[in-house]
Amino acid sequence: MAKIFSGVQPTSIPTLGNYLGAMHNFVTLQEGNDCIYCIVDEHAITVPQDPKEIQKNIRNLAALYLAMGIDPKKSILFIQSEVPCHAQLGWIMQCTSYMGELERMTQFKDKSKGKKAIPAGLLTYPPLMAADILLYQTELVPVGADQKQHMELTRDLAERFNNKYDDVFTIPEPYIPPVGARIMSLQEPTKKMSKSDTNRKATIFTLDPEKDIIKKIKSAITDDEAVVRYDRDAKPGISNLLDIFSLCSGRSVDALVAAYQGKGYGEFKTDVAEAVVGTLKPIQERYAQLIESSELDRILDEGAERAYAIAKETLRKTEKALGIGRHNRH
Ligand code: TYM
Repeated sequence: MAKIFSGVQPTSIPTLGNYLGAMHNFVTLQEGNDCIYCIVDEHAITVPQDPKEIQKNIRNLAALYLAMGIDPKKSILFIQSEVPCHAQLGWIMQCTSYMGELERMTQFKDKSKGKKAIPAGLLTYPPLMAADILLYQTELVPVGADQKQHMELTRDLAERFNNKYDDVFTIPEPYIPPVGARIMSLQEPTKKMSKSDTNRKATIFTLDPEKDIIKKIKSAITDDEAVVRYDRDAKPGISNLLDIFSLCSGRSVDALVAAYQGKGYGEFKTDVAEAVVGTLKPIQERYAQLIESSELDRILDEGAERAYAIAKETLRKTEKALGIGRHNRH
């Protein structure tokens, strides 16, 4: 039984990459573990967001979490900004971080590149992520490969704090799946599939209609060898489709490679598309029911209350270790 925490930003609809790399594991890990899943809206505002749009995205993401199989009887589901301890411990984690290590984060470098005015939140995003995780004494964090560096920083900050003050935090481990940790763009398969890609054909969103999914997979960039085999360097496009196919069908990559010997890319892509549609359609159907229901608010209210009860204990211990506030009253 492990303590598990993870989060997704409510910036647009989650992609197939978010689902296969992370959210699908959130569901599997519910069995036999203590899981807490978060809609990290405070992370989303590190870049400007339209207030109406983010409100809508928060609700959509909550409904999608449930539609994908997060069960509020087993897991806590809540919105980050509704538990104030995140911002509070986030500040303490900023004070535990060094500028140099924050400036070295690849995501910070990528997102700030070419910007004249860099929002400070882009730099201080990883200490807030560390706070999210550490508040719940988390042992395991299911994430995609792009979060590995942030996880290393989280561990460093926790160790630094524990060594300097008191043993307050559990040191968390990342859980990065062997297949699917880096689902690639369908148009440029050497870069990761991303919500913010300007080429709409590059990314499958989990609420895309069937015909769009088929179209996007049919126009995925491959190569001219016309042989279905797995080679991430020489055949990034086909290898990415094999990963997606394997996760959506439950068949191993080896079994798929064997099954498509002597068959063309056309037939292969048709079957990949069918497997993706088969995975996303039931989620979309459950989503359509959930998004209209008042259940959603009840689940989020209860989730925030349960998360707060845990988080405030860690925050109290942290402040006590630091000597801030008054602790003679507890
Ligand atoms: P976010 O919202 O960008 O992505 C959510 C999760 O999806 C994974 N992911 C992918 N996995 C495989 N292939 C892809 N192409 C792909 N794109 C995204 C991400 O690795 C992530 O696991 N910083 C986090 C949110 C966060 C968080 C946390 C996560 C905030 N606090 C605490 C864990 C614990 C992020 O931006 O994820």
